[in-house]
Amino acid sequence: MRRYVWVIGSVVASWGVAAAAGQDEAAERESLLARANAAVAAAAARVENDPSRPVFHILPAAGWLNDPNGLLRHDGWYHVFFQHNPYGDEWGHMHWGHVRSRDLVRWERLPIALWPTKSLGEDHVFSGSAVVRKDGTPMLFYTSISGHRPPEQWAAIPEDADLVTWRKHPSNPILTESIHGGSRIYEWRDPYVFRHGEATYLVCGGNLNASQGGQGAVFLYRADDDTLTKWSYRGVVFTHPDPEVKNVECPILFPLDGRFVLITSQGQPVDWFVGEFDPETPSFTPTARGKIDDGQVYAPSVLVEGVERPILFGWINGVPSGKGWRHCLTLPRQLSIGRLDGRLKQMPYTQLRELIDADLPDRHLFRDSIEGRELLGPEWSGDSLWLQVSLDPGKARAVGLDLLVSDDGTGGVPIRFDGRSLEVAGTKAEVPLQPGESLHLAIYLDRSILEVVSLRGEAASIAGTNTPADGSAWISRVVDFDPARTRVALRAEGGSSGRIEIRHAYRMKPAWVTGR
Ligand code: FRU
Repeated sequence: MRRYVWVIGSVVASWGVAAAAGQDEAAERESLLARANAAVAAAAARVENDPSRPVFHILPAAGWLNDPNGLLRHDGWYHVFFQHNPYGDEWGHMHWGHVRSRDLVRWERLPIALWPTKSLGEDHVFSGSAVVRKDGTPMLFYTSISGHRPPEQWAAIPEDADLVTWRKHPSNPILTESIHGGSRIYEWRDPYVFRHGEATYLVCGGNLNASQGGQGAVFLYRADDDTLTKWSYRGVVFTHPDPEVKNVECPILFPLDGRFVLITSQGQPVDWFVGEFDPETPSFTPTARGKIDDGQVYAPSVLVEGVERPILFGWINGVPSGKGWRHCLTLPRQLSIGRLDGRLKQMPYTQLRELIDADLPDRHLFRDSIEGRELLGPEWSGDSLWLQVSLDPGKARAVGLDLLVSDDGTGGVPIRFDGRSLEVAGTKAEVPLQPGESLHLAIYLDRSILEVVSLRGEAASIAGTNTPADGSAWISRVVDFDPARTRVALRAEGGSSGRIEIRHAYRMKPAWVTGR
C-alpha cells in the first residue's frame, strides 16, 4: 500500500515536473523565436530593395542562409527548412528557417522553425532532415551543437497541423556518440533519414581516425521501431575514395531507379555516386561518380517521399557580405539515373514554367553565322530570365552569349562553349559533344544568381533531339549585378561559322506568394 502511494505520488510529481518543464520550454521557445523573427523583420526592411537580391530562388527575408534541411511533403504542402542566422549576414546562431509551397516553385515564408534551446546548453541547430513517421507525424532530425558536450542527434515534432510550431522531442538526445561503442567519430553530424524495405535508416557524416590524419566517411544507423527514437549503429557504410578527403558533411543516401545514390559534401564541388547499397554488410559500392555542380553549390539535400521523382535543392554560396542577406538555395532539380550510362541526371523541375511571366512574349532567335559580338535589342533585356539556348561553334573557336551587358554593349557575364567545355562566368565544366551535336542549355538568371545546365543526351531528347545519353552539367554562380546592365549579347570567337539559337526567352516572376 505504501509503495502504491509512493508510485502514484512519484508519477504525479514527475508529471508535474514534466509539465512545468514543457511550459518553461515553450516559454523559452516563444521568447527566443520572437527575438529571432524580429531581428529578421528589422533587417528585411533594409534588404528588400536591394536590386541584386534574387526573386525566384529560396532565401530568408534577411540574414544568412546555408544548407537546405528537412525537405518534407505533408498535407499537400512541401516544406523546405534551411540553416539560417537571423542575426546577421555571417554564419552563426544556427536556426532552421522555413518556407512552404504547393508546387515547389511558388513559396511562402513561415516563422523560424527551430532554435537552439539555450537552457539545455544548445548553441546551434545544425543540418538534418525530415521524415513522416508511419503514424503520419512529421519528425525533424538535426545535429545539436553545444560547447559543453560532443555533437548529438536530436529530433523535433510539430505542435500544429501547419507545421509552424515545433517542439524538441522529449526523448532527446536521440543518438549520442556512445552508440558507436569504443570508436570515436569526429565532426559527427547532419543526420539524413531514408527508408529501404520495411526499415528506416539514417546516415551521418564525419571523420574516422582523426589521430591518423582523418578519413571522410558515412555512418549508418537503423531505427529499432516506428517511433524513430531508438536506433542501432550498423557501421561505416562508405569511406570517401579520395585520400585527401578528411571529412564528409551532409551525406544523402536514397534509392533511385532501382539503384542507390550517395551525395557527399567534402568541399566544393559536391560529389555524387550511383551504386549498390547493402544495409547488412553495411556497404555502399559506387559504379559511377560525378559532380553535382561545377560552380558555387554545397551541401544539397534531396526530397524523396511524396514526390514523383526525387527533388534536389543545394546551397548557392558566394554572395558577398554586407548586404544584410546572404546566399540562397538552388532551383529544384528533378533526379533520375540515365538508362544508358547509369549516371545521375539533374533536370530543372518542370513546374518552373509556372514562374514564367505570361504577360511578356516568349522570343525566338536564330543566327547561323555569328561574327564578333552582337548586342541584342532592349526587348531582350532582363534581370530575371529563363533562356533555352542551343550553341554550336562550327569551325569557330567558341560561341556564346553575355548576360547583364550595359546599354553601350560593354561588360557582361560570359557563357561560352568551345565544343568541349562550357564556361559560365569563368567556371568551366567538361561537356564533350558528338560531331554535329549542339549544346542545349537552360539558363536561369535571377539578378546576381545564375544557374546554367547543359541538357544533353537523354535530357536533351526532351527538347527534341535524339543523341545518346552523356550526362548533364550544372554551373551555378553568384555574379556581379548592376541594375543598369541588363542587356543580352551574342558572340563568336575565332571564326564566323558558329550557330546560336535562342529557342525560348522568358521573363520570370517572383516566387513569393506573399512578401518578397
Ligand atoms: C555544411 C555544414 C554542416 C553543418 C552546417 C552548419 O555546410 O557545415 O556540416 O551541419 O553546415 O551550419
